[in-house]
Amino acid sequence: MIKLHDLIFKPFVSSQQLDEIIGRMASEIAADLKDEVPVFIGILNGSFMLVSDFVKKYPHPCEVTFIKLASYEGLKSTEDIQRLIGLTQDLTGRTVVILEDIIDTGSTLHEVHRIFKNENVKQLKIATLFFKPEAYNKDFKLHYVGLEIPDKFIVGYGLDYNGLGRDLPEVYQLKTTQYMTNLVLFGPPGAGKGTQAEFLKDKYNLVHISTGDVFRFNIKNETALGMLAKSYMDRGELVPDQLTIDMLNAEVEKNQDAKGFIFDGFPRTNEQAKALDALMESKDSQINAMIALEVDDEVLVKRLLDRGKTSGRADDADENIIRNRITEYYTKTAVLKDFYSEQNKYFGVDGVGSIEEITQRLSKVINELK
Ligand code: IMP
Ligand code: MG
Repeated sequence: MIKLHDLIFKPFVSSQQLDEIIGRMASEIAADLKDEVPVFIGILNGSFMLVSDFVKKYPHPCEVTFIKLASYEGLKSTEDIQRLIGLTQDLTGRTVVILEDIIDTGSTLHEVHRIFKNENVKQLKIATLFFKPEAYNKDFKLHYVGLEIPDKFIVGYGLDYNGLGRDLPEVYQLKTTQYMTNLVLFGPPGAGKGTQAEFLKDKYNLVHISTGDVFRFNIKNETALGMLAKSYMDRGELVPDQLTIDMLNAEVEKNQDAKGFIFDGFPRTNEQAKALDALMESKDSQINAMIALEVDDEVLVKRLLDRGKTSGRADDADENIIRNRITEYYTKTAVLKDFYSEQNKYFGVDGVGSIEEITQRLSKVINELK
């Protein structure tokens, strides 16, 4: 993560990826132009790094020159393009390839076409390292595109945010979401997970996402995802991870202003934990901690048996069933404990004591997360 002026940017395209993309563009253009000696024209300022790396990779003789245009103010492209340095040589009959760092709205490209209208070049090709299709509002053909990217502001490798960032050898993307605290909450049956989740939710302004509830909600309301999930369940098959992730994604999307999330009942496998990381990453966020309530087996058995006496839940009444559920919990969560421990994100919290005592222990862990 880097900070330029007031904004935070996250890594987006590595220098190795840039190298590959530019190599690919150079071979593609060389294959098309065959024996021509093209004139590559970089659009300053942004294209200086691209042009330098590109021509080093271009396998045949070529000429290089620049024109200088300016259109951007801060984070926004303006219609008003200034021509700061124009063409300084006669290009009659030549094959010209424009090298752009990025094509956004296309206004700069429009100006480029205006410049070349009366130059009588043999052909004019447009090559751009980055292209934002969602922002583009012109019809000019783009002959070579290195990478299509979403309509988000990027910096680095020649591209700047108010003057800063051009020198970075890789590309960064503007981080748009605020900092969130995202927890994965675990606990064996009877540990008091639900009770604690309620307290934490209020105390830290988090949204509690219980996978079980999410499933029931989607199925009850017959959402597209719910119906799909039900079709697997009806056939006695496991719901694919991606479908669960899609449902969680919908929950996260619904709560754009949340200060964070408590995930409950998910992940259960390594694959799911990775998928959850990817989901949070796509939100410019992360899982900060897996918190597991730790309660001695005998205490759990006693608690559940007591609960069974009043709740009438059949699975809380039989000691063998209870012990099996506890064993199953430890078998299943062991891999996750390892997964999060490796990232120093595993926190075991003593789950024996009064509700307030346990809430305090959990709060201590959360408060110390950075
Ligand atoms: P267009 O005229 O809207 O296509 O914008 C092209 C120019 O805007 C580029 O040459 C860049 O100088 C600048 N630009 C567009 N998008 C970005 C971005 O995400 N980061 C930095 N500069 C950008
Ligand atoms: Mg530019």
